[in-house]
Amino acid sequence: MEKKREHVPVLLKEVIQILDPKPGRKFIDATFGFGGHAREMLRQGAQVLGLDWDPEVIKLTKERLVACPSAPWSNLTLVEANFAQIEEVARESNFYPVDGVLFDLGLSRWHYKKAQRGFSFQDQRLDMRLSPQLPVTALEIVNRWDYDQLNQIFIKLAQEKLAGPIAQALVRARRLKPIKSATELSQLVAQVYQRQGVKPKHHPATKVFLALRTVVNQELANLKTGLEGAVNILVSGGKLLVITFNSNEDRLVKQFLREKRQQDQLGDLKLIFPSREEISQNPLARSAQLRVAIRR
Ligand SMILES: C[S@@+](CC[C@H](N)C(=O)[O-])C[C@H]1O[C@@H](n2cnc3c(N)ncnc32)[C@H](O)[C@@H]1O
Repeated sequence: MEKKREHVPVLLKEVIQILDPKPGRKFIDATFGFGGHAREMLRQGAQVLGLDWDPEVIKLTKERLVACPSAPWSNLTLVEANFAQIEEVARESNFYPVDGVLFDLGLSRWHYKKAQRGFSFQDQRLDMRLSPQLPVTALEIVNRWDYDQLNQIFIKLAQEKLAGPIAQALVRARRLKPIKSATELSQLVAQVYQRQGVKPKHHPATKVFLALRTVVNQELANLKTGLEGAVNILVSGGKLLVITFNSNEDRLVKQFLREKRQQDQLGDLKLIFPSREEISQNPLARSAQLRVAIRR
């Protein structure tokens, strides 16, 4: 049963405990996905504005709401939007100030298992865009960017130790014929690992895929703008919660929260990890970290 779910929400108990949703309270779920966190906020009587940038995710979620129109969904407003626009969307929807904002970063299980856009190593397509409005696909990057550009993103965005040899292998391979799929890309990277005699802990292409996804979706720039917007629409005492899954995101969030604390816009900061029990039930939670800050 668990395996069929599109996504299992991470740190759900902790998020709900901190947000303390109840009637009369308003929350923004900036990464609505399949509503795992939002459902619980709604169930406890709060109002929720949900954002997701992926039109397919929004479509699937809306189909579900039509199939099940009763509460807790009646207090939900769902908008297809980049969370970089959180402040504008909240103002346009007349949904501010709010008692809490949640960012649960990255992708849902559905993206890896079903989206067929190249997030998974076995996919045929190599696109990786969350929104069709994004200008560049992963396919274009691996076939067009030069050695230095590829090398740089693999180092900076994924701390890939074999960045140079991988970038070189991609440039060589595409001289013979264009790289066409996520499968082909992941095999090329795996071959570099094999040739170098390096045995990684996870799939050898994990870091390269992370770097590409980060560039394609302009993840770090959007996150910075989204966090700024969220701070602007929180009530005094309102809570900002961010769940990160990799060190790029986490570094940015940590730095952002510290700066805002120094500027006296945010109070004490808290860092929370998933319990061992949660990780054993949902291994995808193992790299999650929840950072919490309270608006002054
Ligand atoms: C980890 S999932 C969220 C899962 C959700 N909390 C749940 O429990 O069902 C992250 C979601 O954020 C969305 N997303 C990623 N970047 C986004 C952005 N810049 N703006 C809005 N949504 C984004 C993805 O499409 C994905 O559905």
